Amino acid sequence: MKLEDPISIELYSHTKALSVALGYRDHLTRLHSERVLGLSEESGVCVGLSNNDLGILKIAASLHDIGKIGIPDHILLNTSKLDKDEWDKIKQHSEFGERILAATEIEGSKQASLVIRHHHEHYNGMGYPDRQSGENISICSRIISIADSYDAMAETRSYHHSRTHSEIMAILHKETGEKHDPELMSIFCKIIESSKFKATKIH
Ligand SMILES: [Fe+2]
Repeated sequence: MKLEDPISIELYSHTKALSVALGYRDHLTRLHSERVLGLSEESGVCVGLSNNDLGILKIAASLHDIGKIGIPDHILLNTSKLDKDEWDKIKQHSEFGERILAATEIEGSKQASLVIRHHHEHYNGMGYPDRQSGENISICSRIISIADSYDAMAETRSYHHSRTHSEIMAILHKETGEKHDPELMSIFCKIIESSKFKATKIH
């Protein structure tokens, strides 16, 4: 992040500290968050977001899963399939994340915290926690959602193995219009081809 961005240096400092804290709790989630930040920024620049929105996008992308520090270890670090109750607990992370960032009360934190709250909303209104749909979901949350989905499928998680770039794109296309914003998805298709965060798995 660059200091000349219009977001306060204080908010960037807090963001950095929270990212370090997340890394101590769950190193893989911090690495994932850094890649989601990179992909989101590339999409945000390509969309032509204002400098202020780009600043909010970067803060929210790097902290989108900060709420996972509030999820118990036996669920967060579970390597087997999660049951419904455990999934319901995991889903609370978007609201926990909103509260954590909003608690800094720094200028810009309220806006960024709402973006975090809505990073699991779906374009068709079937996401969580507020079941918002379409453009009622902030553009920053919609951008992060695509980047998050892409990177989550590129890495091995407790409930699935990593996928190739082609496999991921096929799934994202299938989900477009339901989970993902079609216009932002077409932007993502452009940026991912030359992105350093493109999935490296060959087959
Ligand atoms: Fe998340």
